[in-house]
Amino acid sequence: MSTDTDTDEESTSNCGASRDETAEATASSGSKCGASSADSSSSSSCGSSSKQQSVEEKVGSTVEDFDAEPGQLTAVGLGPGHPEGMTERAKQALFEAEHIVGYTTYIDLLPDEITDAADELYDTPMCGEVSRTEEAIDRTLAGNDVAIVGSGDPNVYALAGLALEILESKGATASMVEFEVVPGVPAAQSCGALLGAPLVNDTVSISLSDHLVPMPEIESRLHAAAKENFTITIYNPWSRKRRDNFEKACEILLTHRGPDTPVGIVHGAGREDEQVMITELAELEELGEDEIIDMTTTIVVGNEETYVWDDRMVTPRGYETKYDY
Ligand SMILES: C[S@@+](CC[C@H](N)C(=O)[O-])C[C@H]1O[C@@H](n2cnc3c(N)ncnc32)[C@H](O)[C@@H]1O
Repeated sequence: MSTDTDTDEESTSNCGASRDETAEATASSGSKCGASSADSSSSSSCGSSSKQQSVEEKVGSTVEDFDAEPGQLTAVGLGPGHPEGMTERAKQALFEAEHIVGYTTYIDLLPDEITDAADELYDTPMCGEVSRTEEAIDRTLAGNDVAIVGSGDPNVYALAGLALEILESKGATASMVEFEVVPGVPAAQSCGALLGAPLVNDTVSISLSDHLVPMPEIESRLHAAAKENFTITIYNPWSRKRRDNFEKACEILLTHRGPDTPVGIVHGAGREDEQVMITELAELEELGEDEIIDMTTTIVVGNEETYVWDDRMVTPRGYETKYDY
C-alpha cells in the first residue's frame, strides 16, 4: 500500500513533509502574495513551504487586510491525471493563471508548458487542504489571478466548496472575487470508462474517508445506497488507518447484495500505475490488502442487474424492458 494518511486526498507523500522548491520559487519571484498587514497574523503563511497545519486551523486574514483589487480565483479540475484527460478550458484556465496552487501530486501531473508559463507555483503535500486553499484565496485577494487545482472535478470531494466557505469567512461578499469552477472528469467516470459501462443507471458516490464525516454516518449512507439498488462508486476506499472502514463497508454491501455482484476496481486511472480489475463482491474485502486498493483507487459496485460480459462491466439502462434487440 502506498498511503497511510487520514485525509481526503490521495497521496504517496508523508503528511507534514515540506517541499523546499516551493519556498525557493516563491522567495525568488517577488511574489505580490499576502495581505498588506496580515503577513504575521494570517494562518496562511503566504510564500512559505512549511505550512502544514491541522484541519482545525483557523482562517487568519480577512478581506480588510488586503489593499489590492482582487484577482480571479479559478478552481480547476484536472480529470484523471494525464494531459489528454484535461479539458481545453482547464488548460486555458491554467495558462491564464498567474499562480497555480495545489497538492504536490496534482502540480506534478501538470504538463511542463503549463507550469513553465505560470509566474508562481505553490504546492504542499498532504494535510494542508485548508491552509492551501486559504493560500490561494490570500493570493487572489492580494491581486493575483490564481488557479487552485485538484484531480477529477472541483465539485467532487474537492476544494471548490471550501474555497467559497473560506472566502465568506474572511468577510468577502460573493461578488468580491471573480470565482469560476472549471469542471474535470471525475474519478468515477474515468474509472467507469475503463471498466466498460457500469454507471449508466442511477449511481451514488460514497467516500469512506471519516476525516470529515463520522463513520456511523458513512455506514448509514452505504446501507441506504445498497438497499436501494444503486450502482455505488466508492471513493477514498482504503488507507492503513481506514482498514476497518473498508472492512465494514464490504460487510454492509454483502448484507444487501449477492456475493457474486460484479465489482470493478480501478487504481490510478490515467496515471502511469493504472490497474483495472473486475471481481465479485465476495472477494472485495480480501483485496483491501492488495496494492490495487489504496487512496488512488475508485471501486464500482454494480447494482442487481449489473453483469460481466467478457472483461466488461455492463449495467443495463433498461432499454431491454421496452425494445427487442
Ligand atoms: C479527495 S477525492 C478527489 C476526487 C476528485 N475530485 C474527483 O472528481 O474524482 C480522492 C479520491 O478520488 C479517487 N481518485 C482520484 N483520482 C483517481 C484516479 N486517477 N484513479 C482512481 N481513483 C481516483 C480515489 O478514490 C481517491 O481516494
